[in-house]
Amino acid sequence: MSQKIIVLPGDGIGPEIVAEGIKVLDKVREKFRLDLEWETALMGGVAYDKTGKPLPDETLDLCRKADAILFGAVGGPQYDSAPRELRPERGLLALRAELGLFSNLRPAVLFPQLAEASTLKPEVVSGLDIMIIRELTGGIYFGQPRGIETLPNGERRGFNTLEYTESEIERIGRSAFDIAMKRDKRVCSVDKANVLEFSELWREVLESVAKDYPEVTLSHMYVDNAAMQLVRMPKQFDVIVTTNMFGDILSDAAAMLTGSIGMLPSASLDANGKGLYEPIHGSAPDIVGKGLANPLATILSIAMMLRYSLGAEDAAVSIENAVSSVLDQGFRTADLGGGENAAKTAEMGDAVAAAL
Ligand code: IPM
Ligand code: MG
Repeated sequence: MSQKIIVLPGDGIGPEIVAEGIKVLDKVREKFRLDLEWETALMGGVAYDKTGKPLPDETLDLCRKADAILFGAVGGPQYDSAPRELRPERGLLALRAELGLFSNLRPAVLFPQLAEASTLKPEVVSGLDIMIIRELTGGIYFGQPRGIETLPNGERRGFNTLEYTESEIERIGRSAFDIAMKRDKRVCSVDKANVLEFSELWREVLESVAKDYPEVTLSHMYVDNAAMQLVRMPKQFDVIVTTNMFGDILSDAAAMLTGSIGMLPSASLDANGKGLYEPIHGSAPDIVGKGLANPLATILSIAMMLRYSLGAEDAAVSIENAVSSVLDQGFRTADLGGGENAAKTAEMGDAVAAAL
């Protein structure tokens, strides 16, 4: 039976980069004779404009039935005035929560050809290969109560709740250790246990999970130090496991180590390996429609999709090799320092498809 992918281009540069991803997917489907089909659905601001909801029920249903989901980006300044519950970002958060996509894998890998593109010195980043595992369906992103209220004195108060249960911590911990077993067997758990109670519990649970993985070394680091270490000596890390918000922040920083945020793919997985795949960079409203967006994070997200949800490791590797080969050929989008001769979004996509 053929495998079904739901494609959610979303907003901003989402449709542009997803179009390049689909070119590449079409090419690997042919090359590896994969029995894949896909269907596009509405999500984000564009869904809100057309249906009044950022995550229409129909889209959610399609995603529930799919084998994997390819997602572009959501959001844009035109939605800042929409009711908070209906903003495009809420659609993405709801999708993550509804599908139980708690384990977010964000690999920061430096292609050697891009060592010069990073704002950090080549010797600091060359050979970089970090896997950030971000908890994706809990923590302050979802904790209740939340809101903005008006106090009796007329002043307003904004509040959110940061909470984690033991079972939520345990399952993300297991994800991280399972992945570390296939890598260098080192897990660094990032928290703020010197100040926050939830972090104390996080540490305790991670320590107890570690007992089941005697071959893996577990260390702990406070998040402020981790932010510093990521730009100081990033190669010290193998797997980083952390909370939803810390992971959001640290993965943007880690992305820049790889030359550009336009390079970082991600996988968001449920307990059974079904996943949503997306570039981590967002909708970039400032460059929409100019052909400036780098499609490589999306293309590399498709490689992750083939690897983690569709059981096609060989196709995944061939996409990664094709990306490496177009970088060898000198293709650079503007964010990678392409300068005057920068490759446009579609040229980059065509080049990867051709390299396949
Ligand atoms: C990300 C993004 C999202 C997040 C936004 C768009 C809701 O920044 O995937 O990192 O904060 O999780
Ligand atoms: Mg983010």
